[in-house]
Amino acid sequence: MKKDLVVLGAQWGDEGKGKVVDLLSKDFSAVVRYQGGSNAGHTVVVKGQKFVLHLLPTGMLHEHTRGIVAQGMVLDLELLVKEIEELEARGLKVMERLYISDRAHLVLPYHKVLDSLFERKGKIGTTLRGIGPSYMFKYGRKGIRVCDLEDRDRTYRLIKENIEFVKDLCEKIYCENHSLSAEEIFEKLLENYQKIKDRVVDATRFLLGFERNVLFEGAQGTLLDVDMGTYPYVTSSNASALGLSNGTGLPPKYFSNAHFWAVSKAYTTRVGEGPFPTELENELGELLRQKGGEYGATTGRPRRCGWLDLVALKHAVDINGLDGLILTKLDVLDHFEEVKVCVAYEVEGKVIDHFPASLSWLEKAKPVYKTFKGWTKSTKGARSIEELPQEAIEYLEFIQEYLKVPIVMLSTGPEREEYFWFERVYAKAGG
Ligand code: GDP
Ligand code: IMO
Ligand code: MG
Repeated sequence: MKKDLVVLGAQWGDEGKGKVVDLLSKDFSAVVRYQGGSNAGHTVVVKGQKFVLHLLPTGMLHEHTRGIVAQGMVLDLELLVKEIEELEARGLKVMERLYISDRAHLVLPYHKVLDSLFERKGKIGTTLRGIGPSYMFKYGRKGIRVCDLEDRDRTYRLIKENIEFVKDLCEKIYCENHSLSAEEIFEKLLENYQKIKDRVVDATRFLLGFERNVLFEGAQGTLLDVDMGTYPYVTSSNASALGLSNGTGLPPKYFSNAHFWAVSKAYTTRVGEGPFPTELENELGELLRQKGGEYGATTGRPRRCGWLDLVALKHAVDINGLDGLILTKLDVLDHFEEVKVCVAYEVEGKVIDHFPASLSWLEKAKPVYKTFKGWTKSTKGARSIEELPQEAIEYLEFIQEYLKVPIVMLSTGPEREEYFWFERVYAKAGG
């Protein structure tokens, strides 16, 4: 039996999941996105052509893969239709390979209004895509699901009720008036729904009946997980492996034979607010940003940059039950005389080696570093371990030993071909 594969983000998102999922997808029949929404920006570069996917599974860039948009996602139908049309205009047939869950919730314009308002106080630095409010409505039982759109009266009534609620909130709490029109939102929604309605399925049943050769593509990253991340500076879904079952509607047992891999940069970045113990707010951080092109794929915001944090990464290894790690952007470290990794935190004089739940602790955590001599040679585009300088190999071996998990793949550039298998663990396991 072939094995399914789960690919997650191990850090605060933007680890290079898009690049990795794209190249791995060629061996899979279907790729599933199951949490988050258009807050994600997954970049793939193929022969100099750049694609950034927000809602569609990245694996859909291969003509043979089916793409499943599962129930745990929150969907902005306008953006989904735009993304499909843009890919089709670039010559890819997408629509006929796409399956959209009837249980997925919608993101509507009033969610975006609330996202902006909530950001005024206690800023999280969200992507302003309406993600948090859409999940709030879902769990507050005010959400509208894709399956509701077949019942026009019900959909219109729900939109109207929700708009009244949002307007009240805006006026009474934020003293603002918003000209949200139920008619306009309803018309636009139905117009977009007409374009995708033939692709709507019960995605759980579809996957249960489908061959076991599926890749599950996580969005965001473990440290942005609403339960296991740096709460409240997180996204509103379970971006770690915890989100798989509720995000897909598949029983936990379904995943018992799957491989669990996560992607990490060879250093760390984060967008938005929140604790980041190894952040470099100096010229080294700026060098990482410039050499790594660290600007958000969704919002264009400059990403905060710092050294690799092994305490945080070990947390990701443990809670995701990782079988392997995929390391990206090693080439960005080519420019450094010295490379550091955080091996513990010091909090109020105490050394701790686990990732704490408490925000107060995380905010106070001072990194304890191990320093490596830089290799200052190009690893860009390296295709085998023999092409790596000895200093780079030592850096990678230390990471594996600390985490007690193998690095299975190394990415050495943004292009599809710029990678190699560091250890052929997956092949050995018979996948
Ligand atoms: P994702 O959200 O995890 O899919 O990551 P993003 O696409 O938001 O950001 C990753 C960025 O790094 C993109 O611009 C990729 O093209 C780029 N990238 C991925 N892997 C590598 C690599 O190994 N080296 C370099 N230099 N860039 C990479
Ligand atoms: P991919 O899939 C990096 C961050 C936002 C903010 C927090 C909450 O490309 O890795 P939200 O809009 O989700 O309510 O914002 O989460 N964030 C991401 N950061 N990559 C992402 O996705 C992200 N999606 C959300 O910057 O700090
Ligand atoms: Mg991204």
